[in-house]
Amino acid sequence: MKGLIPRDFILDLMARTNILDVISKRVKMKKKGNNYFGCCPFHDEKTASFSLNEKKQIYYCFGCGASGSVVNFLMQYERLSFPEAIEELASMQGIRVPYTDNNNNPSDQSKQIESRNVRRDLYTLMAKITNFYQQQLTLPTSKDANQYLEQRGLNAEIIARYKIGFAPNEWRLTSQNVVKSKAEATLYNQAGMLVKNDSGNQYDRFRGRIMFPIRDRQGNVIAFGGRTIINDSAKYINSPETPIFHKGFQLYGLYEALEINRNPQQLIVVEGYMDVVSLAQFGINYAVAALGTSTSEEHIKLLFRATDSVVFCYDGDNAGRNAAWRALNVLLPCLIDGKDITFAFLPQNEDPDSLVRKIGKNGFEDYLKSAPNLSKFLFDELLKQVDLKTAEGKAKLSSLALPLLDQVKAKAFRLNLLQQLGNYLGLLDVSQLEQLINTIRVNNDKKPSEPTPVPQMKLTTMRILIGLLVQYPDLAKKVSDLNTIRQVKLAGIEIFIELLELCQRYPNINTAQLLTECIDRPFYKQLNRLSTWEFHYQEDEIATIFSHTLKELYDNILAQRQDELIAKERVSGLSTGEKKELATLILVLSKKD
Ligand code: UTP
Ligand code: MN
Repeated sequence: MKGLIPRDFILDLMARTNILDVISKRVKMKKKGNNYFGCCPFHDEKTASFSLNEKKQIYYCFGCGASGSVVNFLMQYERLSFPEAIEELASMQGIRVPYTDNNNNPSDQSKQIESRNVRRDLYTLMAKITNFYQQQLTLPTSKDANQYLEQRGLNAEIIARYKIGFAPNEWRLTSQNVVKSKAEATLYNQAGMLVKNDSGNQYDRFRGRIMFPIRDRQGNVIAFGGRTIINDSAKYINSPETPIFHKGFQLYGLYEALEINRNPQQLIVVEGYMDVVSLAQFGINYAVAALGTSTSEEHIKLLFRATDSVVFCYDGDNAGRNAAWRALNVLLPCLIDGKDITFAFLPQNEDPDSLVRKIGKNGFEDYLKSAPNLSKFLFDELLKQVDLKTAEGKAKLSSLALPLLDQVKAKAFRLNLLQQLGNYLGLLDVSQLEQLINTIRVNNDKKPSEPTPVPQMKLTTMRILIGLLVQYPDLAKKVSDLNTIRQVKLAGIEIFIELLELCQRYPNINTAQLLTECIDRPFYKQLNRLSTWEFHYQEDEIATIFSHTLKELYDNILAQRQDELIAKERVSGLSTGEKKELATLILVLSKKD
């Protein structure tokens, strides 16, 4: 990983980046004293225990222990790899990442460059294909497609905003127009744009279809959905999984919705491409669609990151209610307090596209307002299966509900659901219900869903030195004699030396940069923890404490040497020089106490 992007570049990039800008775009942060605080995006909480230190350029969560530099944050929050996070930071600064060619491990490196280039080339190719499809719509030969779009009521503005296009009903027209080289032919295939027939011939996957480009959050087209206009037996087909497209991780329309409003109050999850586009045309610019798959945990995380209120919209029939129930089951474990979740069921034989055309923007929004929230939907469904008038009915309700409720980690949601269940059962005491849950848990042999506490770490001389150094890299200037330190035989000394060398080579390095420099070292985890360790020292004592601890370390070296000499004296005797040295050591060390 390292050596691929030059160290100096990473350090410089981090010097230009302020972690506060990056994090506050994604998490609401408030200044308190020297630090900023917000609700941790990495675990569920209501109180703000996620802290950010602008001076050290690092974040730390007192609740779950998540910590690191802006690079770690992007990696964890946006699910990026290390080089991807660097790419992201670079693009925020409007600069290009200069990749080096020489590396200790050339095969590994070339593979990575290759895969990165492939991704970039795939984006370029997909953009080219999108253009081609869009152009096709402007040609007189595409009369059918235009008629179809008109009949579906889509206007030019919305067609342009969603980059909707047309793939003519020809076996190889698209590939022949787009693919101009051998390399492009390979990419075209990698992008999932080809299918093979039984006799092994390859031809274009999308033919005779209105094309909906699917964009990732940076706006790159990464896949397509295509709707037939020639009555093909498959109404819609989608790109397969490719190096740049993973279905369960994408929501159609999210990029477009966030383009209109970075912080939408609400997002609506609908089923179809047409629903998203048509709602947008009616001014409901905040609908997204899962791509013909059921709602995944990743979808929910994407939604919760973008907004506090989500409406899941389904057909009013049984299939719709079943789909909603499946979504609810995925939702429960990833609920976050403070989020509003409702389930809207549409009237018979309507989908959002047809309904909004009938009742308009206001009518549709009103319809959504009357939708039941998550807990109402949950209990409505369960109550259908039991007769509450009987004791057996109540027992059944609790046996159906408790395993579901137990998946909810969000405290307020959990309490609220338990209270409602208590109301139905005639049990007013929530603790009784929590106890019931515990019995179920024991039976199911499940682990309790408490957040894992951050384990304690014992402070040793070495850890104090490393911790102080990583938090205050300037302290490296106090160490003049690395050679003496090299003689220390203490666990962790090589880490300390490595850090000292880094700090001395880059005199203005800060905590975050230091951490990022060590991100692929085996000691990184420990270092990361030490970078947020609360020493409870006064700022103005720190330099002195560091010097004292360092002195202890030197004394330690002297003591080691003393032991060595004493041992040698017993075994083989000492030279005159050694005798002198030992005498001095004994003198120095005895003065110490
Ligand atoms: P619908 O059949 O409800 O689509 O499928 P729709 O959006 O109402 O389509 P129109 O109005 O007839 O054009 C909903 C979604 O399910 C996926 C697509 O993502 C579609 O948008 N789907 C549907 C498929 O992937 N394949 C299919 O054959 C059908
Ligand atoms: Mn439809």
